[in-house]
Amino acid sequence: MRTPLIAGNWKMNNTVAEALELVECVKTRVLGVKRTEIAVAPPFTALYAVGSILKNSNIRLSSQNVFWEDKGAFTGEISPLMLTEIGCAYAIVGHSERRQYFGETDESVNKRIKAAIACGLMPIVCIGETLAERESGKAMEVINTRLMGALRGIDQDGIKNIVIAYEPVWAIGTGRNATPQQAEEVHRHIRVLIGDLYGPAVSEQTRILYGGSMNQENAPDLLSQPDIDGGLIGGASLKVGSFTAIIMAAENASL
Ligand code: 13P
Repeated sequence: MRTPLIAGNWKMNNTVAEALELVECVKTRVLGVKRTEIAVAPPFTALYAVGSILKNSNIRLSSQNVFWEDKGAFTGEISPLMLTEIGCAYAIVGHSERRQYFGETDESVNKRIKAAIACGLMPIVCIGETLAERESGKAMEVINTRLMGALRGIDQDGIKNIVIAYEPVWAIGTGRNATPQQAEEVHRHIRVLIGDLYGPAVSEQTRILYGGSMNQENAPDLLSQPDIDGGLIGGASLKVGSFTAIIMAAENASL
């Protein structure tokens, strides 16, 4: 059985004060959650403060990115070591916004993943196709390229510490989520591909999250699909009510 993971990607939102208020409220509301793992990914400025509040709670800390070197002359970057030091368990890697606006490539994503794993930080690796790619029938091809590129050189031990997130670019922030059937089809495809690379036992253990306009209305159907093991939530993770409702949907789906 895979433990569902609901992770909130706050993107470039929330001051430290706003972050603390949000996470305090979520923390109280999810005290009874037992079967679902929860994580939040605040912006770098709020990571330390949010992490302090989350100590001894059932919410884990994630960064939104991570660099591949431990230290040195890399202005503006943050190392895996710096993140684990302040209690990060996860790092989102290769988000489509990073690829689109900041020049991330499969190669740089692969380096970030390797560095994170080596430091005990679990990457949440984002892959997904654009609308043009889907409409031209290339969705699965893109998924293959992204996944193989991300996992290049990663062995059986490495993959066990990786979470995959399928985030169709056309569904991110658009209010147009993939239907449960569309998402399940890609999740199944990803699981088969991981099975081809690492064997069926590893593939059955690998968690594959869905991300893209997930909200409290569509979460129950998406999360009840056999190969959808949780969600990477953007907009709906910024509000206590919608984020906790999605967490409860995961709890119920895992019964
Ligand atoms: P939205 O939930 O706002 O569509 O964002 C999804 C996402 O990009 C999570 O990483």
